[in-house]
Amino acid sequence: MTIDILTVLPELLESPFSHSILKRAKEKGLLEIRVHHLRQWAVNEYGQIDDYQFGGGAGMVMMPEPLANAIESLSRDSPYDEIIYLTPDGERLNQKIANTLSLKENVLLICGHYKGIDQRIREKYVTREISIGDYVLSGGELAAAVLVDTIGRLIPGVLNDETSALFDSFQDNLLAPPVYTRPADWRGEKVPDILLSGDPKKIEDWRYEQSLERTRERRPDLLEGEE
Ligand code: 6GU
Repeated sequence: MTIDILTVLPELLESPFSHSILKRAKEKGLLEIRVHHLRQWAVNEYGQIDDYQFGGGAGMVMMPEPLANAIESLSRDSPYDEIIYLTPDGERLNQKIANTLSLKENVLLICGHYKGIDQRIREKYVTREISIGDYVLSGGELAAAVLVDTIGRLIPGVLNDETSALFDSFQDNLLAPPVYTRPADWRGEKVPDILLSGDPKKIEDWRYEQSLERTRERRPDLLEGEE
């Protein structure tokens, strides 16, 4: 899978994909991430990419021409399966969306800044608009990093143990059960006996019960079907 990211702050996206699972995904050749500076497509020698908004009001808007030129130029190499604009008024990201996106070949992410991008770009090029939650970030970069992380680990072959993503919280609308490691007795606090029993069936049942209980307590909305 190839993910292109269009941003005015490429520095913000240097580190998030260089560690742990995403690093390995890139090394295995399963994931390629290319960060592009929108400034390359600026409309003048001052590097202008934003302008005042029509109708007045504080805050700049990202101009259509640099974005259109960037999108058209990048599409030439690789036609995109999805062109995603990260925006707080987009569809709220969840595991189902991440699963769907992890099966795409070529994806372009557009990070908004200031007041966002000109509406005409959203209508002409963008195929999907995604928000990562009901709060406001200064720009789309951190949201793009979150999206790439959650998609990247789901690409077939990325996780060593193919089944491990299946047990993540949310994968079946359940939160993950509690986990423990050594020592079995830590400052007098004991690990539940069942986990030391060596009985895989009992352990599986216990974990499922714990997941259900946790979900009922913390996120009953997940048990009511579609959130
Ligand atoms: Cl995608 N962008 C910004 N600026 N804020 C957000 C967001 C995105 N998702 C949640 N808050």
